[in-house]
Amino acid sequence: MNRDQRTLLVVSIVTSAAIALATVAKSDPLAFPGWWAFGSFVVIAFVLETLNTQLRVQAKGSTSFIMHIAAGLLFGGFWSGLVAGVSTFLGELARGNKPIKLVFNVSQRIVAVVTASLVYSSLGGVTPPSYLSEAIALSSRELQRDLGLFFVFASSYFLVNSALVSLVVSVSSERSFREVWSLNTRGVIGYDMGASLISLLVAWLYSVVERRVGFGPIGLVGVILPVVAARHVYGLYHQLQNSGQELLQLMVKAIEARDPYTSGHSVRVSALSHAIAVELGLSAQEIEQVETAALLHDVGKIHEGFAPLLRKEGRLTDEETALMQTHSTRSAELVGIISKFRGFIQDSVRHHHERWDGQGYPSGLSGNAIPLAARIILISDTIDAMTTDRPYRKRLGLEVVIAELQKCKGTQFDADLVDVAISSVAVRRLISGSTGTAVLDAGPLRSRRVSWPSGSLWKVRGA
Ligand SMILES: [Fe+2]
Repeated sequence: MNRDQRTLLVVSIVTSAAIALATVAKSDPLAFPGWWAFGSFVVIAFVLETLNTQLRVQAKGSTSFIMHIAAGLLFGGFWSGLVAGVSTFLGELARGNKPIKLVFNVSQRIVAVVTASLVYSSLGGVTPPSYLSEAIALSSRELQRDLGLFFVFASSYFLVNSALVSLVVSVSSERSFREVWSLNTRGVIGYDMGASLISLLVAWLYSVVERRVGFGPIGLVGVILPVVAARHVYGLYHQLQNSGQELLQLMVKAIEARDPYTSGHSVRVSALSHAIAVELGLSAQEIEQVETAALLHDVGKIHEGFAPLLRKEGRLTDEETALMQTHSTRSAELVGIISKFRGFIQDSVRHHHERWDGQGYPSGLSGNAIPLAARIILISDTIDAMTTDRPYRKRLGLEVVIAELQKCKGTQFDADLVDVAISSVAVRRLISGSTGTAVLDAGPLRSRRVSWPSGSLWKVRGA
């Protein structure tokens, strides 16, 4: 089964689950809340849906979940499923997503809110909960139980939503589920739980105004400000993430502008290092750090002293070679300017020319004393040097590259890592150039509540 078929299978399963869950919820629905109530929730959720932010791995996040969860608390599983389904449908139409993504995103939102609602009611949660009634004392046990259950509702929603989106993104982009989930969810889970409290405010204002004035939707006006504020906080978070990524790209472009022969080299080394790190089963955070270190491993070559050496066509003299070898220390110095790169990333950059037998530079480290990421980068760096055209020779084929890596096992390279690299399908593909796209080009690298906008199967607007 190929990637497209696997993706279609996931979409079909999620859609069937949405139909099944909606049928279960419909068997015992609460009374229809009325067109005004239903419509106002749909409209606000739709507006929030259109104010989405880009996540790190091929997904978008929006704050429409605030309205889905509030609808769940007030109107129960069936009607909140309908609010989520209709608002997501309109949002997808406005966004111009292809039909299959539209079907997936509508279905996954219905599955998320109806599942959360079923978990909530199966644990004894009532709709509407006790805290929405005026005649309840803050100290009452019932109130505390219902507030606890609210967090169960919100967590279930986030869990199902992020799991389904990560699943379809991992299948369609052939990245590991754990990595996609971690990159898109890890940084924002705290924000999500915090922002979900706004759902409580939405539900509370709606019920207060409904009781006093007899028309709940007016109460929703009072929540516009906190909702906009929440969207702003997410926006700031993503801006920060984006500027970090853009800074990285700037640094890489700067070095490559100086050294035209190695144009694209850092990005390819990063892609190879990423593939080896995934193969080793490192955590998403470690994979990301390996990727970053690989991207920046030669950034020190931007230093003025290396310019004539990089332009020189013939062999370097011994003196020039010694000077050239200082580039790894220079790179580490530059990388260390960014505080979050100190430690793991900086050490990996500094030692990316150390050899397993201790004959490398700058410190002559050997064996496991060399940081793991540095050992990975050395292998990726060598593979890329062999598989790209040089002024003095054409690129080497896969078999020659593998033979060369085998030959230098235990002397230049960590033998275990070589075995992992050459048995990896992803690494072999990168070597063969069949999927030459590098990590930076593979998709928007930004970091959540999520829908699935841009995959390899369906290009979104202008992508
Ligand atoms: Fe280097």
